Amino acid sequence: MHPLELTAESLQDALDLTTRFVREEVDSLEGQPSADVAGAEELARTFVERVPESGQSLDRILERLRPAIRKSFNTAGPGYLAFIPGGGIMSAALADFIAASTNRYVGVRPPAPALAQIETTAIAWLASIMGYPKTAGGILTSGGSLSTLSAIVAARETRLPDDFSRGVIYMSEETHYCVPKAARIAGFRDGQVRRVAIDARRRIDPDALVRAIEADLGQGLRPFMIIANVGTTNTGAIDDIPRLLSIGRQHSMWVHADAAYGGFFRLADSGPGLMPEIEACDSITLDPHKGMFLPYGTGCLLVRDPEALKRAHSMDAEYLHDVRAQEEPNFSDLSPELSRDFRGLRIWLPLALHGLGAFKDAIEEKLELTRWAWEQLREDTRFEIVDEPQLSVIAFRLKGEGPAADRLNEELQRKVNARGRVFLSSTRLDGRYVIRLCVLSFRTHQDRVRDAVQALRAEADGLLAQRPA
Ligand SMILES: Cc1ncc(COP(=O)(O)O)c(C=O)c1O
Repeated sequence: MHPLELTAESLQDALDLTTRFVREEVDSLEGQPSADVAGAEELARTFVERVPESGQSLDRILERLRPAIRKSFNTAGPGYLAFIPGGGIMSAALADFIAASTNRYVGVRPPAPALAQIETTAIAWLASIMGYPKTAGGILTSGGSLSTLSAIVAARETRLPDDFSRGVIYMSEETHYCVPKAARIAGFRDGQVRRVAIDARRRIDPDALVRAIEADLGQGLRPFMIIANVGTTNTGAIDDIPRLLSIGRQHSMWVHADAAYGGFFRLADSGPGLMPEIEACDSITLDPHKGMFLPYGTGCLLVRDPEALKRAHSMDAEYLHDVRAQEEPNFSDLSPELSRDFRGLRIWLPLALHGLGAFKDAIEEKLELTRWAWEQLREDTRFEIVDEPQLSVIAFRLKGEGPAADRLNEELQRKVNARGRVFLSSTRLDGRYVIRLCVLSFRTHQDRVRDAVQALRAEADGLLAQRPA
């Protein structure tokens, strides 16, 4: 047997060991601290090492890996309420294991048409969740940032095929930084990106957008793309999509919805009403590693017109003659990637196994938990809440102005996180320190959200008692 091939027996042993290891990690998530990075950098240095000439046992390797996993923000655990969680469902991990073990090629369709179809079907399922017509298409990416890059390139190639040097992209002050970053990578200069003012609910101000477009037209520039936020990272704000579509249509602009965080809330009963007309946007970024609770590395770009993606990404090469596809789509024609993992299985298998209903219930629960936490915090007059949650983020702070109040809030966040039950992150809004609580992990339930509220109240008691009168 080749040394890189495992015998049936040693493969079974390795699987048993790995399964036990994974079960120990997953079964203990509930009791693990919500974050533990004390000494993590010292540990990280133990992995600065030479490539080993000969191998060692899987047992020993897993034992080294365990503390590396534990010394981290516990992004898989129920207490992770920071940034944008997701959790990582085990059925998706099983899909990855099957995909990597069987290692078939789906970058182009002919080498494995049925597998490529599974991925195409997974994309069609996501498109139907968003209300897109059957003629829509898309591509699975590694995440929202790469989806956004392909959306910008598709919009650029469609609206400004010959010269984009005067093209301008519009987005709000609250738009995720991956959008201006993608614009830069796509060849746009800073002066071709407009950050438009927001209203009191932190949504783009459509009148300010119209003024910006008109001013640019007056300068001989070419407004060609609008980004609609469907769940901002800071507060979960959703822009007025119908109004943005109408402005976009007036100027033949491409309207892209950044629904990386918010998109899967369309599964909730209230979902379609939260993001009306998203199905009319030219393209939509979705992050299944957020609202579908899949492991990191699962993003999606949906487009109403798949030809636009093809126009931006397809190219031919003689050495690919043998695998030139008769049937569409061919994933490498729709994205910058050629070789890549079979990521479609990571979406298709969990949906086939659990059914869409399980995901609907989970997303509904996140909305209910957020509402509950918001009501609790709202009753406590010491807290100021930035806005009624539009999705599952609550942004809040202890009342007060100036640097001392900012420090107090920073200390509150630190103390709550130090308890190890929940992990919250923070942001700055209008120059003020604001704590964020985002309920999105499929493992987060009522008990943990109650812990978060109780910890905030108890630590606020302590901090305010210490404060000089
Ligand atoms: C609203 C929004 N858009 C885009 C992104 C970028 O997505 P990714 O981290 O998958 O690249 C994020 C990430 O949190 C986000 O919240």
